[in-house]
Amino acid sequence: MITKNKDRISIPTTFIIFGATGDLTRRKLAGSLLNLYCKGLMPDNFQVMAVSRRDYTDQQFRDFIYENSLKDLEYKFSKNDISDFLTKITYIKGYFSEESTYEKIKKHLSSNAGGLNICDNKLYYLAVPPKYYLDIFKNLSKSGLTLSCSPESGWTRVLVEKPFGRDIGTAIKLDRMLGKLFREEQIFRIDHYLAKDTIQNILFFRFSNIIFDPVWNNNYIEKIEIKLLEDLDIGTRGSFYENIGALRDVGQNHMLQMLALIAMENPKSLSAEKIREERTKVLRSLVVIDGPRDIAKMVTRGQYKGYREHKDVDRNS
Ligand SMILES: NC(=O)c1ccc[n+]([C@@H]2O[C@H](COP(=O)([O-])OP(=O)(O)OC[C@H]3O[C@@H](n4cnc5c(N)ncnc54)[C@H](OP(=O)(O)O)[C@@H]3O)[C@@H](O)[C@H]2O)c1
Repeated sequence: MITKNKDRISIPTTFIIFGATGDLTRRKLAGSLLNLYCKGLMPDNFQVMAVSRRDYTDQQFRDFIYENSLKDLEYKFSKNDISDFLTKITYIKGYFSEESTYEKIKKHLSSNAGGLNICDNKLYYLAVPPKYYLDIFKNLSKSGLTLSCSPESGWTRVLVEKPFGRDIGTAIKLDRMLGKLFREEQIFRIDHYLAKDTIQNILFFRFSNIIFDPVWNNNYIEKIEIKLLEDLDIGTRGSFYENIGALRDVGQNHMLQMLALIAMENPKSLSAEKIREERTKVLRSLVVIDGPRDIAKMVTRGQYKGYREHKDVDRNS
């Protein structure tokens, strides 16, 4: 049964997901959207527009999402609610680099908005490997899709996943491009790791606990080791790991976030700004491993047995 939530957003909203057949959409986004829908936390009137390159009709895509993401949630949500949710999804086939994809999105959006005679909120969710970000940003801008449909209502936001760029140079380039197309408050750079209970609990464990707070310093702690252990292999994400690699996927984001939360000073308040200030101080104080000699001395690289047998992985990787 879908609960009616009093804080529900009344402005119609469209979620446009790029990369709708990918691992992130299948494993996390589809189920999360269904969860919000069933808890009554989605806007009264919303739709999900799924964009990817596979040749699916709306119904074929709904079946794909049902089979790969939602079927396993039937223990939690009723079949009726899942079916209702699926009717909110439409599918657009298109390549990210082709202008025609964005024309199709635009046509679809305006027909919907026109039909309802409303100006809706739009969230562009980039569930795609980072190498596509620039293409998507450029095309969104060129097609006018980044513009709000009215100055009074109907926001346009963009959400990008980690890793943000391939290195410092590409990250700066992406940031400049985003800054030209969107205002800062329209941009959401997501690292879902920060929302995990265990990560959030680090703060409470450290700063609300009179046993640990006084001894959490270098007089009592000799060293910190952070281990990020995976029990899954790369699954169907061969191409992703070949291009990005495990370190870029989780190193400079998840692991450094953990380090910052563990090593930072007590923020003056638990507001996002104060926590960010303290985290930044820790990150600025890190000594960067620099140059091939240091890297050879301090870094050990490895590959698990069987990695090269996965689909889309180079046999000499
Ligand atoms: N997977 C996770 O658990 C996870 C967790 C946190 C963050 N992320 C981040 O989320 C992003 C997406 O990751 P992912 O694992 O979902 O990647 P993925 O499995 O490789 O999915 C990529 C998606 O983009 C589509 N696609 C690729 N090239 C395209 C093109 N040229 N034109 C149109 N569609 C194209 C793919 O279609 P096909 O299905 O046809 O290949 C697929 O739908 C990455 O930035 C990743 O770091 C992922």
